[in-house]
Amino acid sequence: MKRIQNALEACTSPQYRTFLEAASRAALTAGSIIRELYEKPHTIQMKGAIDLVTEADLAAETGIIASLSEDAPGIEIMAEESYTGQFADTEGTTWVIDPLDGTTNFAHGIPIFAVSIALLKEGRPVVGVIYCPMQDELFCASTGGKAWMDTQQINVTETEFPVQALIATGFPYDIHERLDTVIDQVQNVLPKVRDIRRCGAAAVDLAYVASGRLDGFWEMDLKPWDTAAGWLLVEEAGGRVTDFSGNRYSPFKPEIIASNSLLHDFLLKQI
Ligand code: IPD
Ligand code: CA
Ligand code: CA
Repeated sequence: MKRIQNALEACTSPQYRTFLEAASRAALTAGSIIRELYEKPHTIQMKGAIDLVTEADLAAETGIIASLSEDAPGIEIMAEESYTGQFADTEGTTWVIDPLDGTTNFAHGIPIFAVSIALLKEGRPVVGVIYCPMQDELFCASTGGKAWMDTQQINVTETEFPVQALIATGFPYDIHERLDTVIDQVQNVLPKVRDIRRCGAAAVDLAYVASGRLDGFWEMDLKPWDTAAGWLLVEEAGGRVTDFSGNRYSPFKPEIIASNSLLHDFLLKQI
């Protein structure tokens, strides 16, 4: 696949190469399904009071599973719209899939959303792909093989001072129970930084930290499919990812701070 040629060449093992190619092809397939449905009227179902699922989430997930089953068969799959199990740090190898991250944006005609696919091995991603269909930007990484946006290697920023930093966050679906905490966090961070963004798609936030568009990101109550691919992207781009206490990150933990490394201690202190 030409557009990820450099990322494939940088893979540290032939296995990662195969998985990266499989994940990229699946993400591009899902992206074209989503693009096609974007302009059409949507079928919206509610998963919670403000948590939506559309025809595009379901169609994209079906497309990804079919594509991965063809290119990398026999691997366990944890995909948002069909997963019914309990979250626990997985042993073995699992595809972790968010077919459409940023469904609320999609449903409202805001073109900021992504497909996110990671291959987790013993709880750590070895391959991660985030594809933004409306911008046609394919972000990817494999362990030890750096992070890429299409043919370009990407890096986190070198921003050292909070006042120069653009930081993103997101709000949990159970916001009514968490409002005080969320407001406290924003109140701590906002006056000290250049600005805050709420993009509406955690995978996009993480891809943007990895590619230097954002300097940092935090959010609580995320699911493994929101962050598994982005975690690897940020680390391979030179950034740092932890929970809110600075401990080793796991996508099975609900909270995440991702940064360019330099601003990590600042964010840990505020959140
Ligand atoms: C959501 C988005 C959003 C974040 C939510 C996620 P979805 O994912 O990533 O930015 O704030 O917590 O659940 O539901 O659009 O796949
Ligand atoms: Ca999501
Ligand atoms: Ca989703």
